Amino acid sequence: MNALEKKEGSGSVIPAHSIICRFIGPFLSIVQKWDSQLSLVSEVIEEWMSTQRKWLYLEGIFVGGDIRVQLPEEAKKFDNIDKAYRKIMADTAKRLNVVDCCTISGRLEEFVNLGLGLQKCQKSLNDYLDTKRRIFPRFFFISTDELLSILGSSECSCVQEHMIKMFDNIKALELYVDHTNRPVAAKMISAEGEIMEFRNVVYTEGRVEDWMNLVLQEMRRTNRYITKKATFWYGRNWHIPRTEWILEYQGMVCLAANGIWWTGETEESFLRIAKGNKRAMKEHLEQQNEQLSGLVVKVRQDLSPNDRLKFRTITTIDVHARDIIEGFVRDNITKAQEFQWESQLRFYWLKKEDNLWIRQCTGSFEYGYEYMGLNGRLVITPLTDRIYLTITQALTMQLGGAPAGPAGTGKTETTKDLAKALGLLCVVTNCGEGMDFLAVGQILAGLCQCGAWGCFDEFNRIDISVLSVISTQLQCIRSALLMKLKRFTFEGQEIDMDTKVGIFITMNPGYAGRTELPESVKALFRPVVCILPDLEMICQISLFSDGFLTAKLLESNFQNNPIMIGGLRALTAVLRMAGKLRRASPGLSEMMVLMRALR
Ligand SMILES: Nc1ncnc2c1ncn2[C@@H]1O[C@H](COP(=O)(O)OP(=O)(O)O)[C@@H](O)[C@H]1O
Ligand SMILES: [Mg+2]
Repeated sequence: MNALEKKEGSGSVIPAHSIICRFIGPFLSIVQKWDSQLSLVSEVIEEWMSTQRKWLYLEGIFVGGDIRVQLPEEAKKFDNIDKAYRKIMADTAKRLNVVDCCTISGRLEEFVNLGLGLQKCQKSLNDYLDTKRRIFPRFFFISTDELLSILGSSECSCVQEHMIKMFDNIKALELYVDHTNRPVAAKMISAEGEIMEFRNVVYTEGRVEDWMNLVLQEMRRTNRYITKKATFWYGRNWHIPRTEWILEYQGMVCLAANGIWWTGETEESFLRIAKGNKRAMKEHLEQQNEQLSGLVVKVRQDLSPNDRLKFRTITTIDVHARDIIEGFVRDNITKAQEFQWESQLRFYWLKKEDNLWIRQCTGSFEYGYEYMGLNGRLVITPLTDRIYLTITQALTMQLGGAPAGPAGTGKTETTKDLAKALGLLCVVTNCGEGMDFLAVGQILAGLCQCGAWGCFDEFNRIDISVLSVISTQLQCIRSALLMKLKRFTFEGQEIDMDTKVGIFITMNPGYAGRTELPESVKALFRPVVCILPDLEMICQISLFSDGFLTAKLLESNFQNNPIMIGGLRALTAVLRMAGKLRRASPGLSEMMVLMRALR
């Protein structure tokens, strides 16, 4: 067919040229006949091609796949079309003359009708997929083909390879058949192999979108239960050292419980100061420092890779927590109402709601309990803090956040990092010129229904005409949020709204091939500029959390190093290398290890 199309393209030139030739007189009727015949041929071939394309796509879905069982009516319709199409093709194989094949009377109409029929099949298929997506909105985050492969399979295990796209950092579910012969999902396994065992197993029976919803609910319920338990035992088990307590729980659970205790202890110190104990904050700082030393001792010991990761992340966050308290002591901050405290990300277990809430200034957020294994956290620098604060304040006004700056300054990762702190799923989408409003609309619809965050990377690469449509979509979401609607109409469909949704865009302004954002879009996002990440601090704290104790001394050496010019991405690679080297050759001095890593 492709070969035919090419030939046909060159064929039609000749008559078009001859008709205007002035010696045409004697051949006029012949040429005219050929002209009309060839234009019919070209029309037929065009329809043929488009029908073939649609047929080819749907054939893969309807013939042989399990989708037939789900859509019996459509399958029957498709079979009829399939039969007709195959008949034409068999017929064609016998003739092998293009003109003969295409000029059979009624052929054009036949193809047009087949095309329409296929289009209807496609539409019913899309509607079918849409209903599935509305029941389990995370299906919005996988492609149509992937969704079809899930829906077309009768095995529960068909979701495994797509877990990583629908959940943050989750590799698989543990699936098995229990003693009563019912299929169950019992655990979630993260990409690193950390495990969260469900409190109650989920029966993976019936429709996949239904039991996936149960899995999602159980993930949150279990996570909440463990977080509450860990928070409770943190304070009770004084005879167990903190480092042992950490070993008992999942990484993110430790971070959350840790946050709750740190917030509580800091506020208690403020209270003690108010009661006249001037040293309260200093004592709090001493305790923080002790906790940190405990962690570092542990990090330098032999640990399983996952435990090491966990300790490293906790150390990274703890350093920031310690630094804040250090600042309070230094600047003599004595009241909880001071901006320095208000502007921190604070974790509270609210008794009334019996739930975890996170506050920053005027912002207040319910924790999302999205299990995400040991996906690590960033070093919190002043820039990170500034982005956090901008985002949380924007969210309280139902706006989005727009970090802007050169590549590799941490725009995307910082947004994701805050989502991690709030226990929310964050879906990163790379935008390009080819992105249309339908694709963006699908993702937005998914985000609203899941209560997830979306980070649209390099947003200003999208074509300006598409951006204006997207701005209408965003405005629609915002007004639903402002009116606190539970359901709203988006792109002609009524969908659920989960108020935890957040939409963020990152940009590299002034870079070649990028458009300036229209005002209508700009108005929906709070800008935050990221020019220079604090490399030195990131370096120091990363090394510290990897067990380097004298890293601070290296500052001066480090600054002149070419690696600093290489930017953050190169730096993180070197740091990871340094950690590996240190463990591989424990005899070497830290300085030597660093030098080697740099090479
Ligand atoms: N505060 C930080 N602490 C540790 N690593 C960071 C920090 N900020 C950024 N990075 C690292 O820098 C790299 C680039 O960040 P990224 O968010 O992808 O940049 P951008 O989106 O601005 O291009 C990532 O590997 C990220 O882990
Ligand atoms: Mg980015």
